[in-house]
Amino acid sequence: MLTWSISDAVFVTEIDDEHKEIFDALADFEKILAGDGRPAELRKAVERLTTRMVDHFAHEERLMRAARYESLPWHKKLHMAARWRVEGLSTRMEQGDAEAGAELVEYLASWLHTHTQVADRMMGAALRNHRRCTWKVTFRAGTKPLEACDWVTVDGEPLRPPTESAS
Ligand SMILES: [Fe+2]
Ligand SMILES: [Fe+2]
Repeated sequence: MLTWSISDAVFVTEIDDEHKEIFDALADFEKILAGDGRPAELRKAVERLTTRMVDHFAHEERLMRAARYESLPWHKKLHMAARWRVEGLSTRMEQGDAEAGAELVEYLASWLHTHTQVADRMMGAALRNHRRCTWKVTFRAGTKPLEACDWVTVDGEPLRPPTESAS
């Protein structure tokens, strides 16, 4: 339950790698919780988990925006709900609630699998499709000389234009 498996794959390497890292951070947190669960160590583990999660959400949202993914508002709401829930649980932990840590593990393990297998997989399909279309449009509909075009990747990063022979 706390590990990434192939059934969680969205087939976008960078996203799958980040999902694995989040599951690893969650498993680390659970291990500390099941051990002596010292508050300082637990706090650090929650911070690591939250940072990975928040950075990952921001990354997915950047990719969806760049691909003009129409379900972005819905997907963003799902991220926001999970973020609020995790922040609420970590606040309860800070306040000494003994149940909050276990609740966090249970909630996030279940949320991550469900979200990854449904919402992220839909996003993955759209991103892969967008990447394919981007190249098609670039090569078929370009009317300016290659060097006059503004080349960017789907993430909006600058891209070196292909040479005439490669096109
Ligand atoms: Fe997502
Ligand atoms: Fe994700």
